[in-house]
Amino acid sequence: MTTALLSALPQEQSGLFAALQQPVRVQHAGRHFTSGVLHGQPVVLALSGIGKVAAATTATALIERFGARRIVFTGVAGGVGDGVNVGDVVVAHSYVQHDMDVSPLFERWLVPGYASACLPCDRDLSALLSGAVSAYLQRLGRPFDSKNDSPRLHQGLMASGDRFVNCPEVSQALRTPLLAAGHDVLAVEMEGAAVAQVCVDYGLPFAAMRTISDRADATAHVDFAEFIDTVASHYADHIVRHLLQSLPH
Ligand code: ADE
Repeated sequence: MTTALLSALPQEQSGLFAALQQPVRVQHAGRHFTSGVLHGQPVVLALSGIGKVAAATTATALIERFGARRIVFTGVAGGVGDGVNVGDVVVAHSYVQHDMDVSPLFERWLVPGYASACLPCDRDLSALLSGAVSAYLQRLGRPFDSKNDSPRLHQGLMASGDRFVNCPEVSQALRTPLLAAGHDVLAVEMEGAAVAQVCVDYGLPFAAMRTISDRADATAHVDFAEFIDTVASHYADHIVRHLLQSLPH
């Protein structure tokens, strides 16, 4: 069963490419897709592009053209939940599109036609991914990021939207009404909810992990750039290896 491994940025996949066996690279829909074998599993690697539409196109191509039967996203996100710090990891149990608003015709954040504003991730695949993250964080003696001596795993709701959040007021304006409606967002990024929606459409399992690169505040763009260059691929390499070794074939 082919597993698609998706990230937003090339730095996040550099180690996965280096370890890929029998790589076959195909250009399609303006993107590169690389099939091969990674830690004994058939995989296809791709970059989602930035933002929800780019990610939905990539996810659809992975399924329709490259035979992906489950999708795992690894990347970075801005921490907005209490205690969600740079260097921590969030595994999504569900996703909301924070910039979707068809109210008052429909409940705020609901994508019309879907059961809930929160698009679910696959429980079993997410549990395996959480296990891989926990194992990695336990083994990680000295964290890559000196600002966080004891990186933690969080599991919960992530929010995606077509905006890089680098201002505390914007982060609060996004988080507070969601919290008031019972949706406690841990982290924000720009692609996951779109991939979750595509996987709901196709009935395929989806799981996502995001390492926290910044706190979605005024220094977010600096923290983000530094983090993806120095840390993100290490997390992805180790966690994806552990996950693939624990997946059923
Ligand atoms: N990805 C990483 N950090 C982010 C942020 N602050 N906003 C949106 N996407 C992000």
